[in-house]
Amino acid sequence: MIDDSNFLQQEQTVNLIPHTSQLIPQIAVVGAGTMGNGIAHVFAQARFAVTLIDVNVQQLDKAIQTISKNLDRQVAKGSLTENDKATTLNNIIIETDLSLGVKDAVLVIEAATENTELKLRIFKQLDEAAPKSAILATNTSSISITKIAAATSRPAQVIGMHFMNPVPVMKLVEIINGYATTKEVTDTIVGFTRQLGKVSCVVNDYPGFIANRILMPMINEAIYSLYEGVAGVEAIDNIMKLGMAHPMGPLQLADFIGLDICLSIMNVLYQGFGNQKYAPCPLLVNIVAAGNLGVKSGEGFYAYSAGRKELVVSERFMKFL
Ligand SMILES: NC(=O)c1ccc[n+]([C@@H]2O[C@H](COP(=O)([O-])OP(=O)(O)OC[C@H]3O[C@@H](n4cnc5c(N)ncnc54)[C@H](O)[C@@H]3O)[C@@H](O)[C@H]2O)c1
Repeated sequence: MIDDSNFLQQEQTVNLIPHTSQLIPQIAVVGAGTMGNGIAHVFAQARFAVTLIDVNVQQLDKAIQTISKNLDRQVAKGSLTENDKATTLNNIIIETDLSLGVKDAVLVIEAATENTELKLRIFKQLDEAAPKSAILATNTSSISITKIAAATSRPAQVIGMHFMNPVPVMKLVEIINGYATTKEVTDTIVGFTRQLGKVSCVVNDYPGFIANRILMPMINEAIYSLYEGVAGVEAIDNIMKLGMAHPMGPLQLADFIGLDICLSIMNVLYQGFGNQKYAPCPLLVNIVAAGNLGVKSGEGFYAYSAGRKELVVSERFMKFL
């Protein structure tokens, strides 16, 4: 069980004492990629002492540069002062040794690569190295929280904390209760989320949780519509943007998320529910097999090149227009 009295004392003092104080809750973030750097950013900006951990030291350096650039953007907009920026960066230390990085943490948030075996291994290590009272959270998009929790000796203290990309901008944190997660742990995580200025929605642990269970079938259906020749890329995206007030069309969003990620989440839904309605579209399977993964590979439903701002449909899909 978590030591509530100790934690509450720390929580109450968070805004009252200088950031260097030992009383400030120590947060450890495992994985310094796209999501990990954003999660470290928002906790550090909310005056938590953050240890950002990655096996790859270059990734840690890159994460600090990204956080610094994103803070510059906030300063330019006037939502943060130069002083706030310096304090935020001061609140983050980097570490390559997982055991050292989590030894004083009250909360560990794992945001490493989406791979079940890797996450089970990390959670075993976290269970051994983090204080017995620490809560272990995962930012997984699709892996069962209950399965991850079962790799530890403290499943009651394991929870999903699903941040949205880009973390500093997106308001929502989807909080996922594993089979054994206690109410105290959920309440504590809701409290942390509030301190970040974000809004939490608590859900239960079933495939895709809520965000991806609803989003991914919509994206898959958009890909089916293209596959069946019902409409072209631009028409599909414009219908959802201009007709449904979505900020981005589903095909553009799929490119942004990564088509390999979309496929893997559809497979989690398909296998998890055993229902044909979640079968990934054969075009999605093909495009991933061809290595076209969206923005990160330079091509998906659209073609991307450095410096180009306007959206250009991939040549492969011109014939649908
Ligand atoms: N990218 C998104 O839009 C998004 C949104 C919500 C949730 N997620 C989830 O967040 C998690 C991270 O995704 P990402 O997009 O940031 O991935 P990423 O590939 O950008 O970063 C993953 C990082 O984990 C590090 N890593 C790998 N093994 C490690 C280990 N043993 N210890 C420490 N670090 C390790 C890698 O070096 C890398 O820096 C995944 O579970 C993903 O499903 C991603």
